[in-house]
Amino acid sequence: MNIPTKVRLIDVGPRDGLQNEKQPVPASVKIELVHRLQAAGLKEIEVTSYVSPKWVPQMADNHEVMQGITRVAGVRYSVLTPNLKGYEAAVADQPDEIVVFGAASEAFSQKNINCSIAESIERFAPVVQAALAAGIAVRGAMSCTVGCPYEGEIAPERVGYLAGLMKGIGVQRVDVADTIGVGTPLKVQAAIEATLAHFDIDHISGHFHDTYGQALSNTYAALQMGVWNFQSSVAGLGGCPYAKGATGNVATEDVVYLLQGLGIDTGIDLDRLVDAGAYISEQLGRPSGSRVARALMARRSS
Ligand code: HMG
Ligand code: MG
Repeated sequence: MNIPTKVRLIDVGPRDGLQNEKQPVPASVKIELVHRLQAAGLKEIEVTSYVSPKWVPQMADNHEVMQGITRVAGVRYSVLTPNLKGYEAAVADQPDEIVVFGAASEAFSQKNINCSIAESIERFAPVVQAALAAGIAVRGAMSCTVGCPYEGEIAPERVGYLAGLMKGIGVQRVDVADTIGVGTPLKVQAAIEATLAHFDIDHISGHFHDTYGQALSNTYAALQMGVWNFQSSVAGLGGCPYAKGATGNVATEDVVYLLQGLGIDTGIDLDRLVDAGAYISEQLGRPSGSRVARALMARRSS
């Protein structure tokens, strides 16, 4: 077993989480959430996306949010950019990292970004080139690496194919995403194994939605392979508007609790993280999606 001693968590709550909310969430609330996450010790935060406001109106306040946050040295702020138009809008807000996002499934690529996998790579290539030339880091999100809402099961070879294309255009690290949370440990491990043909373990992160309640098991399975970068969402917020029925990412609180139990260092203060989750849950008017947060809050109030 290869379990790492240190894990880096990227909280994607402000982006993946809030992109899927039915009610508009004010920019001021998003900004406060980012501040609370960094105060809890998060070193990477996915803040927003520069996509069409007709497709995802929830992210139309990207400039306001990025301009409104008070940055802390040592924290990496990332944003999604699907094309040059998005990149040019983003660059004005000085992200530390941009994320191009593709899919291992053709149907999901079409539904999510309105183009084929091959076309998406053509769109991403100049974005990656421009970012690297400007000294901005580049991550590639790979959706539907185990299952697709339109095509069903996805073979690991298709993940390997996409990872190879991402590597070929200069993407520095990739996320192996289970967009609809259908994966189980062996399937997730096969998707990571396929990615390892193109990226080393330090440049692969796990991004597991928890629709079927498997995300913590999948996280553990990835840890056993030596993966030490994971995306998660405070209070378990999230979902993708183009993956109907898929619930949020694994809750950051739940992952931190798991990692603490394994003696793995995250640099995150779980109590302050629970406070951040309580804040956003209250703003959204519903209980936290994190089992750990709910348990700790019940203990606090007893
Ligand atoms: P398109 O319609 O193919 O693009 O959309 P287009 O170039 O033909 O342009 C059409 C219109 O969109 C034009 O405006 C453009 O200006 C505008 P109009 O003339 O009609 O007024 N446009 C843009 N506006 C703002 N920002 C831009 C932009 N690009 C074009 N960057 C596009 C292509 C990708 C833009 C569209 O399909 C889109 O916005 N899709 C939304 C994708 C998205 O945000 N999905 C959710 C995030 S991915 C995710 O959640 C998965 C992840 O978490 C991992 C996982 O779990 O799997 C990352
Ligand atoms: Mg996602």
